[in-house]
Amino acid sequence: MPVHRIHHILLCLLHMWTTLTSVSSHPQHSICQLIQRTAVCNNGSLSSVPARLPKDLEELQLNHNNIQTLKNNSLLDYPSLNTLSLACNSLEKIELNTFQDLKLLQSLNLAKNKLHVGYEETSHALKTLPRLRALDLSENELNDEMIATLLQNLTSLEYLNLSGNVLGRLDETSFSDLHQLKELDLQRNIMYEIAGAFDSNPKLQRLNLAFNYLLCLTDFHMTQLVVLNASHNFIEWFSSRQDLNDTFLLETLDLSDNRLFFFPFLPSHSHLRNLYLSHNNIRFYEHLADNSTLPNSTTTVEFYNMKKYSGNVTAQLWDESIHGDIASLEILDLRGNQVQYFPHGFIQKMPVLSRLQMCTNCLETLNLTSEQFSGSLYELDVSNNRLNQIAADVGMLTALGNLTYLNLSLNDIKLLPSGLFSSLPSLRSVDLSYNNVGFCLPEESETKTDNSTTCVDWKNIASLRQLFLKGCNLEIIPSSAFTGLSLTHLELSDNPGVIVQESLKGLRTLQHLGLGNTYIQDFDFSHFQSLKSLIISGNYLSHLPPSLLNLDLKVLDLRDNEMSTIPSIQANTLAQKLHTVFLTGNPFNCCQTEWFRTFETTKTINMVGQSHIECEDLIQMRYRVEHFQLFVCNQTEEESILWYILLFVPICLSFVGISVIVLITSKPKMLPMSIKKKCLKPTSY
Ligand SMILES: *[C@@H]1O[C@H](CO)[C@@H](O)[C@H](O)[C@H]1NC(C)=O
Ligand SMILES: *[C@@H]1O[C@H](CO)[C@@H](O)[C@H](O)[C@H]1NC(C)=O
Ligand SMILES: *[C@@H]1O[C@H](CO)[C@@H](O)[C@H](O)[C@H]1NC(C)=O
Ligand SMILES: *[C@@H]1O[C@H](CO)[C@@H](O)[C@H](O)[C@H]1NC(C)=O
Ligand SMILES: *[C@@H]1O[C@H](CO)[C@@H](O)[C@H](O)[C@H]1NC(C)=O
Ligand SMILES: *[C@@H]1O[C@H](CO)[C@@H](O)[C@H](O)[C@H]1NC(C)=O
Ligand SMILES: *[C@@H]1O[C@H](CO)[C@@H](O)[C@H](O)[C@H]1NC(C)=O
Ligand SMILES: *[C@@H]1O[C@H](CO)[C@@H](O)[C@H](O)[C@H]1NC(C)=O
Ligand SMILES: *[C@@H]1O[C@H](CO)[C@@H](O)[C@H](O)[C@H]1NC(C)=O
Ligand SMILES: *[C@@H]1O[C@H](CO)[C@@H](O)[C@H](O)[C@H]1NC(C)=O
Ligand SMILES: *[C@@H]1O[C@H](CO)[C@@H](O)[C@H](O)[C@H]1NC(C)=O
Ligand SMILES: *[C@@H]1O[C@H](CO)[C@@H](O)[C@H](O)[C@H]1NC(C)=O
Repeated sequence: MPVHRIHHILLCLLHMWTTLTSVSSHPQHSICQLIQRTAVCNNGSLSSVPARLPKDLEELQLNHNNIQTLKNNSLLDYPSLNTLSLACNSLEKIELNTFQDLKLLQSLNLAKNKLHVGYEETSHALKTLPRLRALDLSENELNDEMIATLLQNLTSLEYLNLSGNVLGRLDETSFSDLHQLKELDLQRNIMYEIAGAFDSNPKLQRLNLAFNYLLCLTDFHMTQLVVLNASHNFIEWFSSRQDLNDTFLLETLDLSDNRLFFFPFLPSHSHLRNLYLSHNNIRFYEHLADNSTLPNSTTTVEFYNMKKYSGNVTAQLWDESIHGDIASLEILDLRGNQVQYFPHGFIQKMPVLSRLQMCTNCLETLNLTSEQFSGSLYELDVSNNRLNQIAADVGMLTALGNLTYLNLSLNDIKLLPSGLFSSLPSLRSVDLSYNNVGFCLPEESETKTDNSTTCVDWKNIASLRQLFLKGCNLEIIPSSAFTGLSLTHLELSDNPGVIVQESLKGLRTLQHLGLGNTYIQDFDFSHFQSLKSLIISGNYLSHLPPSLLNLDLKVLDLRDNEMSTIPSIQANTLAQKLHTVFLTGNPFNCCQTEWFRTFETTKTINMVGQSHIECEDLIQMRYRVEHFQLFVCNQTEEESILWYILLFVPICLSFVGISVIVLITSKPKMLPMSIKKKCLKPTSY
């Protein structure tokens, strides 16, 4: 609803402006702020429309008040209104004649009210608005019948919001009068069926059906629709009407978070650019087509339509040509599906594909050459699959001139095309984390088999800025490994025991460095004058590396080290620079926690998990630093008190022990005695 959004922004600006100037400008209207022809009366406790506002008012905002009924006469004074919003009141009904003089009203916001109570009278009132273009009825507990009543004869409506109601079923009568409708929001209802509901809305361009209970969308034939959002339903089938020769105007189709088993059966002619299919059960079944090892298996499925006039849909299940027209696709999001391979020629059908997101699927091989990826590819994410090899020839690699983001993490890759990364001229970011590919050692660089390699030579890849090599079982990084690189991000965490120091020296442009869980004990950071963010958690650091203090760090992760304190001078220096610091999991000394107060009192620093930072006292008791009482460690008496405690504890313990033993041994005697005493007393009747 772009018109609305701009409106909203304007209103916000106006609102801010009036808040700033209200003291001087219109002191007479204490509840409402006036700016030109807009009255902002939000967030009061109004139970009716305020009177005595200027007669030429064009916009009136009454959101977040307590208005239950809009009365016949309440808006008589404001005939020029074109925008009225009453969201978040407890509005139950609008009386019949409320709008009779508002012939200019175009936009009416009734979101988050209780219109299910008085919908009948309200529906009559709405019919008196000849120019109404935008209507928001979201979150009003309205059901199918109430909506049908409310929308009768609203022929001028262009934007309608019905989200968050209790609509269950739509049919051809639901929106039959809304001939001008352009945008319809039906998300978060309980819809389970849509039967020919939009046949009377030839101008509908944007339709949101997200978060409902739809099981399938078959016979899709809304050629004029530009955006269809049917995410978060239970859709198992999506199929378009196949016999239509018209070009669908569809540009964005969101079917993510459903239960699709098949790639959707898309229109045969369309301009579809963005296709979101994440979190379904999609895979391809080409290997089942005409497969003589599986005779007599079903190859078609028919959808029988209950309607007499629309035909049955027959789908050739294993025929991959029904993917429809994907020639304009720019974004294909298939994250979280079960794709094992791409059907023959599938990638080739998308010559302008720019982002392919395949994270968390079952891909076993990826041959960029045989798939014929296009030069427009900008982002390729095949992380978290089962790849053990990537294949590509030199020609293919040089053709991928736009590839900028490449994510291969969380696979089992052992073989890569030689020169994969150095042949991609736009490559900015590579994630190879959690694979088994190491650095090529100088003597190793010749051990190539069949033009693929088991190690990577990162040297002189000029465009590369971000390199992620977490958990790659790295042991030694050759000292020349990063020469000629201008990295800003380098992530080497989770490589226990890796030897890095020499290789990193040249990386003066680094802004983020990850060395978590690498077992470093000390490190010289003085080369990294641009560093903003540093992860050195999970190591054996017993003190803060002094070279850190000269950096302009914003984020520092020191979790799970062996630090016992941070000297005051260091704490003060850090507190002035850091925005975020992680410190949990260190054996801090309870009596040296001045640094904690320093960080705590510095407003600009966020100590993440502050209440979970613990310390130990001399006898290894653990406390939350936040709650530890420092007087226990009072400088002058610190030792004596502790000695007293240490002396007293054994004495007290032995005393307690002796008493317990005495008690236990004497108990059997004492107990019956007392019982006897009580029970043997003669009772008087
Ligand atoms: C309404 O105003 C009160 C006090 O001015 C404020 O605390 C509250 O957050 C406001 N609520 C909304 C929804 O703006
Ligand atoms: C509002 O006006 C209508 C039509 O004139 C009338 O039927 C109705 O009773 C009025 N409601 C109230 C509460 O006055
Ligand atoms: C709705 O419109 C139809 C014709 O378009 C008209 O006959 C009918 O009276 C209208 N209903 C109301 C309640 O205005
Ligand atoms: C419809 O209303 C809901 C809830 O009031 C809101 O979150 C959503 O953004 C609205 N839709 C449009 C298209 O403005
Ligand atoms: C579809 O709707 C959901 C829920 O409102 C939203 O999160 C998602 O971003 C929408 N999809 C698109 C492509 O706009
Ligand atoms: C579509 O075009 C084909 C041939 O171009 C024609 O045989 C068929 O009748 C057309 N279908 C419709 C629904 O127009
Ligand atoms: C037939 O199916 C089997 C098992 O799914 C598969 O291994 C084989 O490659 C298929 N044959 C053909 C010709 O696709
Ligand atoms: C396949 O169908 C044919 C004829 O319908 C039948 O004779 C044959 O036994 C079937 N084969 C299998 C493996 O079920
Ligand atoms: C759809 O299939 C049913 C069941 O086979 C059949 O009775 C009906 O005639 C078919 N309809 C059309 C339009 O083919
Ligand atoms: C990749 O595909 C090309 C072209 O189809 C082929 O020549 C090459 O052998 C394939 N590579 C691998 C490792 O399968
Ligand atoms: C590469 O990207 C640029 C900018 O996005 C674009 O203009 C160009 O057409 C793309 N190249 C190819 C081969 O698609
Ligand atoms: C390996 O690369 C060389 C040139 O670099 C080329 O001539 C040769 O055909 C390639 N071999 C294979 C198996 O791709």
